[in-house]
Amino acid sequence: MATIQALTAKEILDSLGIPTLEVTLWLDSGAAVVTSVATGTSTGQFETTDLRDNDSARMVGRGVLQAVNHINQTIAPALIGRDPTDQAGLDQLLLQLDDSPRQSKLGGNTLIAVSQAILKAGALSQNWPIYYYLQQKYQLTQNLTIPTCIFCMIDGGVHGSDNLDFQEFQIIPASFIDYPSALNLAVTLYQKLEEVLVNRKAVHATGTLGGFTPNLMTNSEVFDVMIEAIKATPYIFSQDVFFGLDASANNFYYGNRYHLKDKSQAYSSKELMEYYRTMRQAHKVIYLEDPFNLDDTKNWLELTAELGSTTSVSSDSLTDSNSKRITEVSSKKFANTFVLKPSKQATITELLLCVSAARQAGNQIVIAHRSGETNDDLVADLAVGIGANFAKFGPVNRQERLAKYNRLSQIHQEIVNRNAVQTTLEVTVAPIVAATPEVTATPTISNPPV
Ligand code: PGA
Ligand code: ZN
Repeated sequence: MATIQALTAKEILDSLGIPTLEVTLWLDSGAAVVTSVATGTSTGQFETTDLRDNDSARMVGRGVLQAVNHINQTIAPALIGRDPTDQAGLDQLLLQLDDSPRQSKLGGNTLIAVSQAILKAGALSQNWPIYYYLQQKYQLTQNLTIPTCIFCMIDGGVHGSDNLDFQEFQIIPASFIDYPSALNLAVTLYQKLEEVLVNRKAVHATGTLGGFTPNLMTNSEVFDVMIEAIKATPYIFSQDVFFGLDASANNFYYGNRYHLKDKSQAYSSKELMEYYRTMRQAHKVIYLEDPFNLDDTKNWLELTAELGSTTSVSSDSLTDSNSKRITEVSSKKFANTFVLKPSKQATITELLLCVSAARQAGNQIVIAHRSGETNDDLVADLAVGIGANFAKFGPVNRQERLAKYNRLSQIHQEIVNRNAVQTTLEVTVAPIVAATPEVTATPTISNPPV
């Protein structure tokens, strides 16, 4: 059995230039893993608490040196000598070290940094890639496949330049397109979109995530320019490629109304619902994330009931990757798709419980990046290893996003190779760790027909 030999943390900067944690974990063999924590721009009420130094003299108060100390002084001694494949047991230990409701004592960011390192170290101790280790250990998916990717093309809302209300305008390649071809499609459309924006003399600078932030004045103009870009390629809209949207409606909801710049008067929930209906029809938006405010659940329910058979109504901030919330929201049918981001909670075990909770009612799962990213590509392995329906890693721009897409390329190639030598592998691979009882195997659901 491999054991944890040492664990150290340090402060690094994320893609937004904000401090975050990087952890290195050594096994007794001398091999090591490194991981780092992504951070969101909008953090929700069901997330754990990020521990920040709040020292205004340094890193605008957002330093994580206390968290570094907690890892080096408190957590490391508790983990040394332990078996890294005991993810559930070690995650439990982390939660015992900080039993406050939202992990405000040691910090949710502190704990997830360590929990991610344990996952990577567990896989390393078996000499397996992380996605394969996850699949074999937890059996949350029968098949290893690359999820359908949701590529962001245009950054709006809080990630854009303040003229577009919706946070992400996305393209989704049809699920029959394999990953290398889907990546080719995304890169082709991204480059073509730039040309279209330049030809229209629109701003073609990029926003927080690396999507374009054009000075277009209406949300529907965005769909027009994206259609123009698609038409300039061999791809056929609504056959090869569809649209998705992360509305992130919490960010334009105040005073009981939705403030869309498209309209001179703010929308009621009913009017926004009608807007989505039209958009679904006119622009073939098959993925709609956070369409309404958190407390507007009546409309979440109505939208899911009305469009849910053909559209992924996706909850990010309604559930915050919290398994209890997912169970509740799923049973009330407020959404049929759940966005999971490891750094919204304190442990990998909690993320795996979210997968089971979402799957219980046959919902779809999106494994997603965050706005404040690092070059860590763990989410790519997670997406494949748990059999996510979708992977949402942002635009095909900026190294912290491309790290994930490049990792998917590598995994795709490994799966192709693995399938080619399946018979040989079956006789040579040793038996593996049993599934943990609390994260039970559930049948895989296939990608949605698009
Ligand atoms: P976040 O936003 O980085 O604030 O989590 C990304 C998203 O809404 O998907
Ligand atoms: Zn979102």
